[in-house]
Amino acid sequence: MSPADFERTARPDGWWRSAVVYQIYPRSFQDSNGDGVGDIPGITSRLDYLAELGVDVLWLSPVYRSPQVDNGYDISDYHDVDPLFGTLADLDELIAAAHQRGLKLIMDLVVNHTSDQHPWFIESREPGSAKRDWYFWRPARPGHEPGTPGAEPDDAHAAFAPSAWTYDPRSGEYYLGIFSPGQPDLNWENPQVRHAVHAMMRWWIDRGVDGFRMDVINLISKPSALTSGEALDPSPAGFGQIANGPRLDEFLVEMNREVGLDAQNLLTVGEMPGATVEVARRVTDPARHELNMVFTFEHVNLDQVGWNKWELADLPLPRLKENLAQWQDGLAEAGWNSLYYDNHDQPRAVSRFGDDSAEHRVNSAKTLATVLHLHKGTPYIYQGEEFGMTNAPLTHIAHYLDVESLNYHARASAAGVEEDQILRSLARKGRDHARTPVQWDDTPYAGFTTDIPWMPVNPNYIEINAAAALRDPGSVFAHFQQLIRLRHSDEVVREGRFELLLSDHDQVWAFTRTLGDQVLLIVANCSSVPAELPVDSLPDLDRAELILGTHPDGTSAVLGPWESRVLRLAS
Ligand code: NOJ
Repeated sequence: MSPADFERTARPDGWWRSAVVYQIYPRSFQDSNGDGVGDIPGITSRLDYLAELGVDVLWLSPVYRSPQVDNGYDISDYHDVDPLFGTLADLDELIAAAHQRGLKLIMDLVVNHTSDQHPWFIESREPGSAKRDWYFWRPARPGHEPGTPGAEPDDAHAAFAPSAWTYDPRSGEYYLGIFSPGQPDLNWENPQVRHAVHAMMRWWIDRGVDGFRMDVINLISKPSALTSGEALDPSPAGFGQIANGPRLDEFLVEMNREVGLDAQNLLTVGEMPGATVEVARRVTDPARHELNMVFTFEHVNLDQVGWNKWELADLPLPRLKENLAQWQDGLAEAGWNSLYYDNHDQPRAVSRFGDDSAEHRVNSAKTLATVLHLHKGTPYIYQGEEFGMTNAPLTHIAHYLDVESLNYHARASAAGVEEDQILRSLARKGRDHARTPVQWDDTPYAGFTTDIPWMPVNPNYIEINAAAALRDPGSVFAHFQQLIRLRHSDEVVREGRFELLLSDHDQVWAFTRTLGDQVLLIVANCSSVPAELPVDSLPDLDRAELILGTHPDGTSAVLGPWESRVLRLAS
């Protein structure tokens, strides 16, 4: 398609502005063949459940062929399904069955890096090969013997390994892997790399997918220090120094045009660690034809010190609500927000921001959802969040399977950090909490599998499971259904202007959404003790009609623990 054709046809209608997306982490969703690992036929078997929930789009975490160093975020073949998850035919069937139910399906696009087993990388390892420049290769640090400790080209750390550089004896050089040695970074400066990625994306669109969630997409344009062969900043683990490189917008515009993303009205969401609201506004401004929306990390980094996710910090409510409000304001005129607490990289929201005790779990899961889903943007639900799954009792290092957690444990232990302290951080922030199998019912292995699952089921599955939630009209699941319906039916939920109220209040999260003369007021007690509503600082509650709440009586001036109300104000 020529740039002129693109300009003529690229008029996205923004269907995704009214959509709710559901993320599936296939390995933990539903096993169909009894090998203990979730698979694609398992997902297909649960489509009716997802349709009942009412979501519009499914996002599949990677199911491509992969050595599974990082559970599929290390891809060795972009055009095939890993046998662990089934076959391409299974995936075609899933896409067709989803479409039959009116559900769209987006794939994870992992193109900042490949697996070290990808044929591109295998060829690149040959020093004179045509693909040498598809990755970043560098000689040892001057004055050092290649392959010896300290000879890495610079001191950059990887996210899941001590160094971002791995020595390859074949050429005596090092390659860059910002995540782990099994995930070498592609060199997007090379146009052949970009063309190959575009072709692969078109291939998936031809197979029927409706868009892409783009893994760490703001890392594809590397800082000029690196692309000009100089040293990387020593601490890319936080990504701040290497994110949002100089050619990011150019690469995204080119991708959009060459693949026809906007022209075909596909959903595009870019995962962007280190992206500021300014970057997001630029990238998601529809006039620029880059992406529909991005995943910010700012709100999920607030309970840590700086870039170090393992250094725990308290999170007072005002900081969280102010951060979300800042993104609402920043993208109010141009661009679009994605809304999430949970995904496969984050601990469970109800345990992290709510109260997962028996007394408060249900209401805190509902209230957190109310607050998030009433913000402006596209909400994302992570499997199990819709019925209030919690963190797991991971108390020993042997309970952890994730490459990130194991690497942190090894590094921190070597640095002399006390085991107790390491385990405390892991128990709060480890990614494995999100990866325990979905708790479908109270039968052995929670209905996830018939044999030992790849990761133990959270023992609370006897009480907390989808089947129990479906039977209970007052369940978290039923509340999510109502929130989704409200978004679909009410334009003010989709498009209304956001205004934060009571920004300093440390218990109550309150805001309005306004569209013309329609006004919604949302008040939520985000604490486990009652909260008096400062009625003098709120719009007139006498004029308010309760349209959705966690408690039946929506008129009292005191909110119960984790009570929330969505009120329509008379115009
Ligand atoms: C972000 C993904 O969400 C995460 O799971 C993965 O480890 C890294 N990117 C590397 O692909």
